[in-house]
Amino acid sequence: MNKGNILIKNASEVVTCSGFKAKIGQEMSDLKIILDGAVVIEEGMIKAVGKSNKILENFKEKDYQVIDASGKSVLPGFVDSHTHFVFGGYRAEEFCWRLSGISYMDIMQRGGGIVNTVKATRAASRKELYDKGIKRLNSMLSLGVTTVEGKSGYGLNYETEIKQLEVMDELDRTHSIEVVKTFLGAHAVPEEYGGEEDKFIDYIITEVLPVVAEKKLAEFCDIFCEKNVFSVEQSKRLLLKAKEMGLGLKIHADEIVQLGGAELAAELGAVSAEHLLQASDRGIKEMARAGVVATLLPGTAFSLKEPYPKARYMIDKQCAVALATDMNPGSCFTESIPLIFALATIYMNMSAEEAVSALTINGAAALNREKTVGSIDVGKKGDISILEFPSYKYISYHLGVSCVEKVIKKGKIVFDKERKGEKIC
Ligand code: NIG
Ligand code: FE
Repeated sequence: MNKGNILIKNASEVVTCSGFKAKIGQEMSDLKIILDGAVVIEEGMIKAVGKSNKILENFKEKDYQVIDASGKSVLPGFVDSHTHFVFGGYRAEEFCWRLSGISYMDIMQRGGGIVNTVKATRAASRKELYDKGIKRLNSMLSLGVTTVEGKSGYGLNYETEIKQLEVMDELDRTHSIEVVKTFLGAHAVPEEYGGEEDKFIDYIITEVLPVVAEKKLAEFCDIFCEKNVFSVEQSKRLLLKAKEMGLGLKIHADEIVQLGGAELAAELGAVSAEHLLQASDRGIKEMARAGVVATLLPGTAFSLKEPYPKARYMIDKQCAVALATDMNPGSCFTESIPLIFALATIYMNMSAEEAVSALTINGAAALNREKTVGSIDVGKKGDISILEFPSYKYISYHLGVSCVEKVIKKGKIVFDKERKGEKIC
């Protein structure tokens, strides 16, 4: 029985992304690569990392499951720090409406969008949500993801918000991927509130948030701060309460309209602000000063045909940038890490190195996990992706296709492309 003891040797490179905090500015370009590298994992934790010859002098191969990674690149498992992967139903119809020119917000104004998924998620059984969740996590795992954030927000009432969070909790316990839960009860105003946003925020604050906090059903609280959804004032009111109750803060900020979400994230000391397609320069500078991670979601900009966020400006202004999929049934139905790499490097002018930092250590920082995952450092969890190519440079270069050959989670191989069809996670 493998207790999570693995020795990876002869890797053409070990891309360590070494560090225990978010990388900013120039730091994002330095992947701290060890050529001809090796990694030792014991009982699920990284025990040693270095040149293969040195490691093999100090550790006996017979004590480990040995992986010969000749000609392969070894990276930290990817951290997808923004998704909405637990939901009922699909919205393929709406996607086609958008192709014909109707905007995402127009669809929402006409009673479609998020509330459509709310109906389907309210109607779905826990088992249905769980089974779909497992499938989606399996797909993410095969793309190299070892930690994922999942948001509620398709219940918009006590029963279904709790149901979504509890399903994610069960997925976290049963699947190899670690699932970090975020409460997004204020994702839209449900139909039964007839557009009364303040009343709905009161309901979330008094009836749902205290239970989420008390039962520790989520680590973070998020809100869709957007024109015609929730204002900056409403967002502040909810997030201050969530902070008081011990939750970390996230904000869907300045996605479609420049509303001041970035500034609010800085003011409240949020862990991250997300989307930021329209964030102001001032807001970006304030986020950098306050240490708020900018979680950028190029798949959403691509899918909505919106302008991409100003990643270069953010990095130049010393803002820590993370990248994530935003996997959800409306604005961006994809779990594709290769797509995110391609869009970030080709359209957002991020370098291949910056994109790797954004999907590893900075993704971890967006989830308050920079001390435990996101890099190959002694003492961190043994979460690793092994590519079928010798360099991380192939990730964006092999457009839209996954280069991941093996995934290791806490020292166990949980995905192996060569063992097709076998269930190992
Ligand atoms: O991050 N912008 C708000 N929320 C999601 C979309 C959710 C949906 O359309 O179902 C997002 O893009
Ligand atoms: Fe989102």
